Amino acid sequence: MDTETVQRRRRTNATPHNAVVTEKRLKRGEVLAKKKADKLLIKEAYAKKDQLASFPAYRHFQINGLSVCLKSGHGDKLPSPVKRYIQNLLKLNMEGPYGSEWQAEEKVKRVEMVDPEACYIFVHEVDNSKAGEMTTMLTAEDTSTSRLEDSSLLVGFVHYRFVLEEEVPVLYVYELQVEPRVQGKGLGKFLMELIELIAQKNCMSAVMLTVQKANLSAMKFYTSKLRYIISATSPSKVNPKIETSYEILCRTFSDEAKTILEVTENKSF
Ligand SMILES: CC(C)(COP(=O)(O)OP(=O)(O)OC[C@H]1O[C@@H](n2cnc3c(N)ncnc32)[C@H](O)[C@@H]1OP(=O)(O)O)[C@@H](O)C(=O)NCCC(=O)NCCS
Repeated sequence: MDTETVQRRRRTNATPHNAVVTEKRLKRGEVLAKKKADKLLIKEAYAKKDQLASFPAYRHFQINGLSVCLKSGHGDKLPSPVKRYIQNLLKLNMEGPYGSEWQAEEKVKRVEMVDPEACYIFVHEVDNSKAGEMTTMLTAEDTSTSRLEDSSLLVGFVHYRFVLEEEVPVLYVYELQVEPRVQGKGLGKFLMELIELIAQKNCMSAVMLTVQKANLSAMKFYTSKLRYIISATSPSKVNPKIETSYEILCRTFSDEAKTILEVTENKSF
């Protein structure tokens, strides 16, 4: 798959039938006003410097012998050790599921990683005995990058963006990566819970993400455990005759998003 194709995979080219029906129902003026309002929502979401500020209870997480602190980051402000950390963890976790597509995908991910619109939540492991101390430090206004630069404490991250998907404002999870040694301890579920809260706080109508079909454990995690569903915009729903290596999953928070991103009836192929 070439780089352009891989980049395009996050958006479907076909306009779902449901989106057309919904749009026809609205008068032109209403459509324009809605488009403007949705763009404003995205702009306002990006204007917030630290999404974690709204969720102080989520800055620290302690479970199954694991104690972590969370910190926000932005693609255009990543220190070099953190960029290296992201690249290494992506290779470790994703080279297998991507198989022969990995080389091309790795290049795409390197570009996506530093995009100014790339929002991050970094997960830092902390010494249990210092957990309280660290929480206090992170809750206070902390704009320095000192701890971010210490990538040795990182154990995972989420990369997400606020985008319009089929003209619906959504939080799109580009990456959710947890180091193998801390997987299965509830961290992934905790991070997705936080992501959904961030989405709703910013009036996004859904959370969306892309999963490689070969990534069976992640697929199971999202669909069985977190109850995400295959989106109507996923290639397998848009055109089942064309085989692709990935699915687009979603969880919606509004009727409009449900109609456009979930419901697949009335489609003719
Ligand atoms: C997928 C991933 C993010 C899940 O995070 P995690 O911290 O390991 O998952 P959690 O410990 O939070 O699991 C939450 C629940 O899902 C279950 N679960 C986790 N992995 C599972 C799997 N492979 N199959 C079935 N259930 C699974 C857990 O048992 C847990 O259930 P419980 O709440 O009843 O105890 C993590 O394993 C990972 O980073 N994998 C590699 C990178 C990757 O594939 N990312 C997704 C790319 S789209």
